[in-house]
Amino acid sequence: MLFPGGCSQSSIPINKTEMLTLRSEREILKMRRAGLTVWHALRIAGSMMRPGVATAEIDRRVERFFDDQGATSLFKGYPGKVPYPAVTCISVNEEVVHGIPGSRVLAEGDIVSVDTGCKIDGWCGDSALTFSVGRISELCRKLLDVTSGTLDLAIESMGHCGYWSEVAVKMESLVKKNGFSVIESLVGHGIGREMHEDPQVPNYVSTEILRYGDFKIQPGLVIAIEPMVNAGSKKITLLKDHWTFRTSDRKPSAHFEHTVAMTRSGVMVLTGPPKDESEKIDISAYLG
Ligand code: MF3
Ligand code: CO
Repeated sequence: MLFPGGCSQSSIPINKTEMLTLRSEREILKMRRAGLTVWHALRIAGSMMRPGVATAEIDRRVERFFDDQGATSLFKGYPGKVPYPAVTCISVNEEVVHGIPGSRVLAEGDIVSVDTGCKIDGWCGDSALTFSVGRISELCRKLLDVTSGTLDLAIESMGHCGYWSEVAVKMESLVKKNGFSVIESLVGHGIGREMHEDPQVPNYVSTEILRYGDFKIQPGLVIAIEPMVNAGSKKITLLKDHWTFRTSDRKPSAHFEHTVAMTRSGVMVLTGPPKDESEKIDISAYLG
């Protein structure tokens, strides 16, 4: 999500631990349903990653799947300058996030971020992943590895960190160590009954965040963690469609996101893969 105030202004995140809604174990299990549906939707999208496929075709396939599952899209109609028109955001190469699916056709060597979310029985799930089309450059390969590694590191660190800032500092340093940059004007978010709830979940730290934007990691916390990493500068530009962000220097960007819950027994990735047969959904009719 965008920091309130927009991407061009620097704004200070304000989080107050006492204001966060904590979810019961029962509520978290309900969120798993939405999370699993999102996981399967991203597998469907992944099965369509080949040259010649238009991004709108991928979106249509995911929309049909959501409809058949009785899942409501969190993205379609999302308010903005113009309501968001699709159930996925598909952002290719130098596009960062919120790319609108359309007639653009995928080509060998593209990296393609697909972000989607749905609501089932009143509970939300939100996840994103950057796929590759055929063979990609070494730079893109490293960008994908570092960005997904940053999400993995965050999930792992949540289990033994007391405050979010301790996680964010690890994320930022992994990205920088690899010569890439963390986007600061877009952040993760709390999630539950709505897609965007408190707290804001930055992928970096600053004195302002340490002072006003930090929050405690405790059982019942449910957040969407979403590192957005640029190969070049952290600066991003909003396109005229009012949604798509691209890197200002037009170098590639990657995005990985999971909805994650902290529970008494540890960290649960609500948008992670099925753990047993009962969690599997038959998606064979939607693949390819
Ligand atoms: N997952 C994104 C986010 O966290 C995408 C939502 S943008 C929408 O902000 F407009 F498509 F909803
Ligand atoms: Co999100």
